Amino acid sequence: MAVHVVLNQKGGVGKSTIAVNLAAVTADVLNTGDPEASSPVLALSVDPQGSAVWWASRVNDLPFHIAQGHDDLAGLKKLKNLPGIKHVYVDTPGWIDLSADGDSGDPLGEGAAADVLRTVLDMADLAIVPIEPEPLSFDPTARTINTVLKPRGVPYLVVVNNWDPRDGVHDLNETKGFVKANGWPLANSVIRHYKLHTRASADGLVVTEYPANRVALQAREDFYKLALELNIGGR
Ligand SMILES: Nc1ncnc2c1ncn2[C@@H]1O[C@H](COP(=O)(O)OP(=O)(O)OP(=O)(O)O)[C@@H](O)[C@H]1O
Ligand SMILES: [Mg+2]
Repeated sequence: MAVHVVLNQKGGVGKSTIAVNLAAVTADVLNTGDPEASSPVLALSVDPQGSAVWWASRVNDLPFHIAQGHDDLAGLKKLKNLPGIKHVYVDTPGWIDLSADGDSGDPLGEGAAADVLRTVLDMADLAIVPIEPEPLSFDPTARTINTVLKPRGVPYLVVVNNWDPRDGVHDLNETKGFVKANGWPLANSVIRHYKLHTRASADGLVVTEYPANRVALQAREDFYKLALELNIGGR
C-alpha cells in the first residue's frame, strides 16, 4: 500500500489534475476488469473547497474510488490500512498554513485543514510536487519543500506540469535548472499543457476516458510515463 500526496502551496498548479489522473492510469492497469471487483485505487481529496470540484459529481462511476476526507480526521488515520486498497492519491489544498492551530472546531477552517494535512503527511510514502514552468511558481514550491516536506523527512519528487511545447524549451529548461540548482529530485516526465485537460476537468473526465485521437493519446501518455517513473503498477 502506498500513499502519494500531491502538494504545493501555490494554487492552480495542477494538484487535483495530477492526483486524479495518476489514479486513473493506475486503476487502468491494476483493475482486473471484473465488474464485481473493487478497484485497488483511491483518490482522496483533503481540500475543503475541493468537494465542489468536477470529480465530486462522479463519485459512483469512476474506475477508481474517490472520496472527500477533510472532515474525517479519525478516518484519515487509517489511510495506511484500507482493505483492498494498494494506491492512494491525496489531493491537497493550495492555501494551507501548517503552523495553524487545529483547535478551531471548524472543519472548513485553516486550523482543521492544517491538522488534516499533518496527518496525511505523516503517512505519505511520497509527495509529488507539481511546478509550472514559470517563475511565479518557484517561491511557493521552495516554501512547500523547505518548510513542509524537508522538516518532516517526507520523500518527494518535483514534476513539471502545464508545459506547452509551442512555447519552446526556454521556460522549461529554466524551471528544470531551478529545481536542479536546489538539489530537489525532478521527474524526467513532463506533463504537457493540453486544452483537453482543462476541458476534461470541467466535464468530469479522466485521461483514460479521453477519445482515441492523436492529441488525446499524447495527453494521456504523460500520465502513464509519470506512473512508470514512479514505479506504480506493479503488484
Ligand atoms: N497539463 C495541463 N494542461 C491543461 N490544463 C491544465 C493542466 N494542468 C492543470 N490544468 C488546468 O488548470 C487548472 C488548475 O488545475 P488544478 O485544479 O489541477 O490545480 P490545483 O493545484 O489543484 O488548484 P487548487 O490549488 O486551486 O486546488 C484547471 O482548470 C485544470 O484543468
Ligand atoms: Mg485542487
